[in-house]
Amino acid sequence: MDKTEKSTDQQKLANHNGDQVVSPNNKVIERAIVKDWDREIQKGEDIEKYWAMEAEQLDWFKKWDEVLDESEKPYYKWFVGGKINLAYNAIDRWIKTEKRNKIAILYTNERGDEIKLTYYELYREINKMANALLNLGIKKGDTVSMYLPMCPELVISMLACTKIGAVHSAIYSGLSSVAVVERINDIKSKVVITADGTYRRGKIINLKSVIDEAMLQCPTVQTVVLVNHTGRYNDVADLRGNEIFYERLIEGEGDSCYNEVMDAEDPLFILYTSGSTGKPKGVLHTTGGYMVGIATTLRNVFDIHDNDLWWSTGDAGWITGHSYTIYAPLLLGSTTLIYEGAPDFPDPGVWWKIVEKYGVTKFYTAPTAIRHLMRFGKKYTKLYNLDSLKILGSVGEPINYEAWKWMYEEIGKCRTPIMDTWWQTETGMHMIAPMPVADLKPGSATKPLPGVNIAIVDEEGAEVKKGKKGYLVITKPWPAMFRSLYNDEERFEEVYWNHFPDGFYKTGDMARMDEDGYIWIEGRSDDVLKIAGHRVGAVEVESAFNSHPSVNETAVIGKEDPVKGQLIKAFLILNSGYDLDLPFKDGSNTMLREELKRHVRHSLGPVAVLGEMVSVDSLPKTKSGKIMRRILKAKEAGEDLGDTSTLDDL
Ligand code: WTA
Repeated sequence: MDKTEKSTDQQKLANHNGDQVVSPNNKVIERAIVKDWDREIQKGEDIEKYWAMEAEQLDWFKKWDEVLDESEKPYYKWFVGGKINLAYNAIDRWIKTEKRNKIAILYTNERGDEIKLTYYELYREINKMANALLNLGIKKGDTVSMYLPMCPELVISMLACTKIGAVHSAIYSGLSSVAVVERINDIKSKVVITADGTYRRGKIINLKSVIDEAMLQCPTVQTVVLVNHTGRYNDVADLRGNEIFYERLIEGEGDSCYNEVMDAEDPLFILYTSGSTGKPKGVLHTTGGYMVGIATTLRNVFDIHDNDLWWSTGDAGWITGHSYTIYAPLLLGSTTLIYEGAPDFPDPGVWWKIVEKYGVTKFYTAPTAIRHLMRFGKKYTKLYNLDSLKILGSVGEPINYEAWKWMYEEIGKCRTPIMDTWWQTETGMHMIAPMPVADLKPGSATKPLPGVNIAIVDEEGAEVKKGKKGYLVITKPWPAMFRSLYNDEERFEEVYWNHFPDGFYKTGDMARMDEDGYIWIEGRSDDVLKIAGHRVGAVEVESAFNSHPSVNETAVIGKEDPVKGQLIKAFLILNSGYDLDLPFKDGSNTMLREELKRHVRHSLGPVAVLGEMVSVDSLPKTKSGKIMRRILKAKEAGEDLGDTSTLDDL
């Protein structure tokens, strides 16, 4: 890009009025696999034809008989009768090609350690682990839980499960033992794979102790596999009877293994996420459609070429990690960088140092990370050469203009377009996102991808006019869609499908469409908070507070935060005799406020970041006794509440 182009873009940004357009430069357009964005979207109008065409990029053991079966809505089936295996497509098929010795995963961390595994090396490790799992009695359809940091063994274990048809369930390593127990018992896992610890800000966080605590309440678990990741354990003597070192487990295992022939609709994984009510939901994804959806979207949105070095900072404990840190890049035969640690340790230049060192070409992260790094100024992005970067991406929450601008100017040096991708754990794949050739509007994820159908509707499901805010719904099925909530079909139908007519899927987000058809996300319509990009249910936090002896009742809302997006604000009715600013117990010097913080953190893990706690005498409620969080939200935002009686749930 020449200097004049750069300065025009910068000028455009400086004159930002919330609606300006940033166009890609010629180099981006020249490289792009998809040259004509509108035409590509048109191609997706016939969804069955489009997705069947995209499914051809994968290796099927047997082709499907029918692309889409809508006969049992909302239990859609994709690629009916098709037989396929994920590990085979992500790994085995590449080792027969010139990619055999290409690096598949490049692991690094905040300490600067490095592990590179070629496709062939990864293939052998996966096979050994797959054989080991078989020896532990794991069969097709059995569940395996993982509580691991971002390390090669996590990738190997996930792929080993998919190879033999076991259903994996990765639990984010920042969650508490309470959350681990809930997630393991729900799916009755026989095997749990964990690690001694994980590196974070120069310390080692002990993961094993969380598992030890959890195991007291997980009767189905027969074997705990321990990755001695940080080298904390010296000796087998340190292990208990049902625990085995990962290294020991795979020792002597053969390095070849068959691939289970999976039906396109066989379960692939279960991933828990927070909803607006009750316990976390076990989002169930199946095999064929998921693979087609994620491979297509990664290729189109990030323009993946053979010589790319892809880096998604999404942890495999969340959907971004599953779909785009691990599976999609391997399905495309790309190299994926996995990083363990904090974004600002040993200093806030650690990510940029990695970009320079390895020549990262595509970089995908969350706005909260950008806002955090922005606080350290421009010093660190200037210290390193970021010229290798070609495309940037954003995920997890709306990206505010300041963060967009910083990303565009400081990381991308006004050369690299930013792909703002809107999607969900449930959608499995990007749904609203541009492609590199698109004209961008900072803060908008632009338009639905080809083969994806979106509308913005009112309470009755009728489309609202352009410019008006409404409920964001998905109007037609898509291949990577989740198929159910594990063991809870009633909730699956109730939460997502029964709200609007015509089989519209309720996303839980509010949005508006502008005159050019660009979609702007306007927050959630339900009681789900987004804290540093993580989904946290208000009800879960309330239950955590309520389980403390000092608390009678709680209402929780999201409080705006300049870095994390939202933090928890809790309104507490305390039992008599308690005060937030007095010691919790006689003779203790821990104030109740601190004690509650500890208590909630223990229940939910560090993802539940408390911003504020206030003690109140009463909470606004409907006539049927439900807490009206929206009144608290409106008050917090300083909005006029008007006639609150009309808000009653009659
Ligand atoms: C929000 C993360 C605005 C949204 C992949 C959605 C976004 C929820 C964006 C899903 C974006 C995600 N712009 N909002 N680009 N991406 N969201 O399941 O509220 O952790 O419903 O999946 O995050 O969060 P989840």
